[in-house]
Amino acid sequence: MSLSDRLAPAFAAVAGGPVDPVVRRSQHADFQSDAALALARRLGRPPREIAAAVRDRADLADLCSSVQVSGPGFLNLTLSDAALAGMVGALAGDPRLGVPVVARPETVVVDYSAPNVAKEMHVGHLRSTVIGDAVARLLAWRGHRVVRANHLGDWGTPFGMLIEHLVDLGEAGAAHELSIGDLDSFYTAARAKFDADAGFRDRARLRVVALQGGDPDTRRLWRLLVEQSERHFLTVYDLLDVTLTGADFRGESSYNDLLPAVLADLDRLGLLRDSAGAACVFPPGSVGRDGEPLPLIVRKSDGGYGYPATDLAAIRQRAGQLGATRLLYVVGLPQRRHFEMVFAAARQAGWLTPPARAEHVGFGSILGADGRMLRSRAGGTVKLQALLEEAVARATELARTRNPELGAAEAAEVGRAVGVGAIKYADLANDRHRDHVLDWERMLSLDGNTAPYLQYAYSRIRSIFRRAGVAARPDAPVPLAEPAERALALELAGFAPVVAEVERGLEFHQLAGYLFRLATAFNAFYERCPVLRADQPVRDGRLLLAELTARVLRQGLELLGIRTPERM
Ligand code: ARG
Repeated sequence: MSLSDRLAPAFAAVAGGPVDPVVRRSQHADFQSDAALALARRLGRPPREIAAAVRDRADLADLCSSVQVSGPGFLNLTLSDAALAGMVGALAGDPRLGVPVVARPETVVVDYSAPNVAKEMHVGHLRSTVIGDAVARLLAWRGHRVVRANHLGDWGTPFGMLIEHLVDLGEAGAAHELSIGDLDSFYTAARAKFDADAGFRDRARLRVVALQGGDPDTRRLWRLLVEQSERHFLTVYDLLDVTLTGADFRGESSYNDLLPAVLADLDRLGLLRDSAGAACVFPPGSVGRDGEPLPLIVRKSDGGYGYPATDLAAIRQRAGQLGATRLLYVVGLPQRRHFEMVFAAARQAGWLTPPARAEHVGFGSILGADGRMLRSRAGGTVKLQALLEEAVARATELARTRNPELGAAEAAEVGRAVGVGAIKYADLANDRHRDHVLDWERMLSLDGNTAPYLQYAYSRIRSIFRRAGVAARPDAPVPLAEPAERALALELAGFAPVVAEVERGLEFHQLAGYLFRLATAFNAFYERCPVLRADQPVRDGRLLLAELTARVLRQGLELLGIRTPERM
């Protein structure tokens, strides 16, 4: 029974409805709940009064040695040693480490990665892929039905010029050009011809019409382009260790046949208005600088459908056909306005009705060490594949020098886990709303809030067990006499609350911060409390604390999509 489970009924009684107690680890007590603060605004009562009422109602006598109202209205909870030992002991026999499977699973669509066909994936897509994959992993682990939707940019006017360029090169030539991995040069060449050559421009325009009209030969050429790009993206996903597969591609084109129905629905509901020949929706709440409502263009004046229309069709299909109740869009913050408008229009159209809801899981940019947009040495955009290869090379080199005992194959394996892990972790450990600076030294450092620090803590614990030659006894009494033991035990008990919190807000830096605190608490414990040299029963108890730390680190990093080598 968790603190949260005990507090929830008391909060519900005081609030007259369900309230999430939001229990967190705290520096001022073992755990803290700050739910009274948010509730105060809703109930129009002083938060301290609410906190006191919850304290008086909550059944915590067997868990807490002290429950106090503090500050503006926090509830500070101090666990009794018996309760703490019981909680930590219970983790030992629980493969889910105290994190239950949700009682009411939802269908969740996670829209992420979404690179564009015939363009190289760049670091801008890195964050979407890394954050989105963590979202998908965490929600799936909690027992939700997760649909990964890779909303590939595979449709629209640029395909006219791309296909014509392909025709010019000849299919074999184009396939070669595309397979060597430099999609950008193909795109740039097509673009240059389009800008310079009026004849080419005309062909490109006709091609778009043929593509949208379903001309078989044009479709075949288009598939060729899409498949080459998909192959490239899958290579990157493999390198990046993400769970996206070829089955998750749901490109913009896959909504094409649904677009006329979207338009018809909106028309029937009287939501469409003409604006300079384009059919638009004016969703409530979105106004421009001049205070005028902003249009969301559903069908352009030339009759074509664009990005907003496709997203409307996708919502209609995800909430309607797939029955999803949580629709997540892991896309950069510059598209915030787009999603606000699309969501508002979908709600107006009745496609997105409670309990179904959509959330833009936005994020900032990745910056270079100079604090500007990340650039390659030649000044172009940095390609994801090159970035990952550099990370792995650097980490492999570090692994070799740090531990000369590793054979070449193991060093390569460690280098891959650490290099890719470092990139992903640096992304996830930062508040996603902010820009984050790509700093090789810092993210590969063994000190600080980094992947290598956590991976090293894990491998260190595994080495204790290699030396011990035994596994931890799950029924060993949990030792709490030493402050460092108690501090570590508290962190272990904090895993479930942090997972619950991240499930709600999808702020993965909270999970990263938690794992960092756990590893730090372990290192302090290991420095002060001998494990293998301790007398029984303390030795077994300390081994158990070490083993649980390793399991939580491993599970936590797995949720972030990061591997944990046994040796480093
Ligand atoms: N392909 C788009 C881009 O590169 C991202 C698509 C995001 N997903 C969506 N449903 N709109 O900017």
